[in-house]
Amino acid sequence: MTDTTLRADALLEAARADRLRPTFHVTAPAGWLNDPNGVAQVAGTHHLFYQHNPDGAVHHRIHWAHAVSDDLVHWRDAPIALRPGDGADDDGCWSGVLVDDDGTPTIVYSGRSGTQELPCVAVGSADLERWTPLPQPVITAPPAGDLTAYRDHCVWREGGTWRQLVGSGVRGEGGCAFLYESDDLRDWRLLGSLATLPAGIPDLDDPDWTGTMWECVDLFRLLPGDDAGTAATGAPDGTSGDLHALVFSAWHEGATLQPLVALGRYDGAHLRIERVQRLDLGRRHAYAPQTYRDEAGRRILWSWMQEGRTDEAMQEAGWSGAMALPRTLWLDHDGIVRQEPVPELAVLRGEPLADWSGDALDVEVDAVVGEGERLALDVLATDDGAEATTVVVERVDGALRLILDRSRASADATTDRSTLRGPVPTRAGDGDVVRLRVVVDRSSVEAFCEGIALTARVYPTRTDATRARIGGDASVARAIAWPMAGAEQPERELRR
Ligand code: FRU
Repeated sequence: MTDTTLRADALLEAARADRLRPTFHVTAPAGWLNDPNGVAQVAGTHHLFYQHNPDGAVHHRIHWAHAVSDDLVHWRDAPIALRPGDGADDDGCWSGVLVDDDGTPTIVYSGRSGTQELPCVAVGSADLERWTPLPQPVITAPPAGDLTAYRDHCVWREGGTWRQLVGSGVRGEGGCAFLYESDDLRDWRLLGSLATLPAGIPDLDDPDWTGTMWECVDLFRLLPGDDAGTAATGAPDGTSGDLHALVFSAWHEGATLQPLVALGRYDGAHLRIERVQRLDLGRRHAYAPQTYRDEAGRRILWSWMQEGRTDEAMQEAGWSGAMALPRTLWLDHDGIVRQEPVPELAVLRGEPLADWSGDALDVEVDAVVGEGERLALDVLATDDGAEATTVVVERVDGALRLILDRSRASADATTDRSTLRGPVPTRAGDGDVVRLRVVVDRSSVEAFCEGIALTARVYPTRTDATRARIGGDASVARAIAWPMAGAEQPERELRR
């Protein structure tokens, strides 16, 4: 046995033994996971590539791992797609996208060499399992200027040519995305900056702050609809006059802050931003989102559920990072971007519980939350209340707010126990029923209120922290808790 197989076995064993590792969320077999990449549906099959280090639960020498699914619920590991050093990417194959180049699957990603990332291309076999990176970057230098960083890609076809966005930021100004054009995905012409927002004075605690650099930029058309099924979405089209959404992750000098979505009109050269919305109230716990339009026409959103425990704890656990549940995203008639887990996940629900307990649950509560009232749902709670994670919906001055109180979530003071919160824009007034859905998967908690998401991580220390219960003074009209079955394939291996 080599050192590498010994290490792989130890990592797999530690990850399997960790009772906080999610059971129905996408995870790496062990080791490190961050951003979703190359998300797509090809000939019926959903593809999810992700940033992965198979050698340990640390962000280092990032590979592209690959998982496939027929139903968005059960995933199979496919061979590693990209490895550092095979292309112009000695120090890592960073985030990017998958496109169909006239029948040839093609990945556009950020090759990291030294401390710089540059746009690179890899060409795939028809089954998307074998990838050959080009030896050189396809763009050999960032645009002139004092940039904060330059990486991550969004690529689409528009008006007979390829277009590409690269995330960046101009020092002293703010985050931005550079727009390029190409006939062949190899030679790129810079068209200019698609959009920028002034960073102002850095405020890392402001959940609306747009940062000094935009990671993981993702632009698409998004028309208003009634729900996930009816909203129309597609590749950017500068001649359409339609609303477009630019999803990006606000970053500042190494700090991963929050995913935001800017809505505006795209004219083929610029996006005139009309408003910016938080994409997830869980901030960095739902980072680096990437979306695609599936074959049913839905906009599917993936994001990285970043951990809230120390580097040492992650390494001891043998794994780090999970994907948030896949969600459908739509724009409502008031111009609010909303999201819900894909309905396919309901296959994991068992019979509704009489006794609400479990560390893998899907809970729905419909309640009237009047002025000054609150609906409080404890999950992952002990009977004595020493540990509990509390999701709250409250109405103050007519406005609804969604809150995740993690102050008692864990007796382990080294975990992130900060409270997360934000507004729930809704037309539901005092007296109308609002729905809260909370999906729990061991260390993962995802709350949805009227299509506004709050994603976070919690690390209960007690094995009896499994209770779910409703509190508060809102009038509950309906409440159901389903146990959720695990969905991980058995006997996974760490691939290299
Ligand atoms: C976002 C990010 C990207 C980068 C990748 C590296 O989390 O920092 O900007 O391409 O992760 O793993």
